[in-house]
Amino acid sequence: MPPEARRKPKVTGLEKVAERTGLRLGVPAGIKRVVAVHSGKGGVGKTFISVALAKSFARDGLKVGLLDADIDCPNVSQTLGLGGTIVTSERKKMVPLLHEKIKVMSMANIVKNEDQALLWRGPIVSRVVDQFIHDTEWGELDVLIVDLPPGTSDVPITVLQILKPCDVLLVTTGHPLSVLDARKAFLMAEKTGNRVIGVIQNMKHEAFDDEHALTDFLAQYDVPLLAEVELLSAVGKSEFVFENAVQKFCAVVA
Ligand SMILES: Nc1ncnc2c1ncn2[C@@H]1O[C@H](COP(=O)(O)OP(=O)(O)OP(=O)(O)O)[C@@H](O)[C@H]1O
Ligand SMILES: [Mg+2]
Repeated sequence: MPPEARRKPKVTGLEKVAERTGLRLGVPAGIKRVVAVHSGKGGVGKTFISVALAKSFARDGLKVGLLDADIDCPNVSQTLGLGGTIVTSERKKMVPLLHEKIKVMSMANIVKNEDQALLWRGPIVSRVVDQFIHDTEWGELDVLIVDLPPGTSDVPITVLQILKPCDVLLVTTGHPLSVLDARKAFLMAEKTGNRVIGVIQNMKHEAFDDEHALTDFLAQYDVPLLAEVELLSAVGKSEFVFENAVQKFCAVVA
């Protein structure tokens, strides 16, 4: 379907839901831009890309926040090697931790034990996300990067609903199943009134990649492919590999 023939996104009842659940809609004052990193399929590199983006922006001199919106399996802090516990300020707001001047907010730095499993249902998780967004001392930020969990249910809905309109960056591999799920994430972003700024193909490798799945998706919705990141053999182990990946993001999301 050509892009112009697509239905205009319809935001149905989201505000009503927010009213019922008590979520506070809107980007906190002081945050100039929000980039939400999403996929659909799990394990395709959202956290890896979010962290790379945050570092890249910070090195460009921007004031950056990184919100780990994966409440039950938060990975941002471990990816950064960031320890420490989030404390509350006198104004009863949570104070993000700092990594290379990036303000980081993650459940991993709130729970006492790294192995603790949080068995929380949707409404509670959504409330936590709301607090992470609104009850954190973000201060002035040029960009807040939000690392979303996979799928199209509670947390991504809540984030995209509260922070609308934000920029959504989709991550997918070239595997047809990953692309299929990326399509769902794309439609979710549109449906919630947000803008998909582009796609990053991660873990590029002939073993995963289908010849047509990703190109068909990009053409159908007229979405740009912003970057391709190879499947790396030493990711996470070497700062050099990470630096390489980071360089690729400097320009693409500017
Ligand atoms: N290009 C790459 N090459 C090799 N390994 C990668 C690459 N990108 C990410 N990884 C690794 O793959 C694993 C999954 O990545 P990551 O945690 O970023 O995925 P995710 O999409 O955030 O997962 P989840 O859906 O569980 O949140 C991590 O160990 C990460 O270091
Ligand atoms: Mg993740």
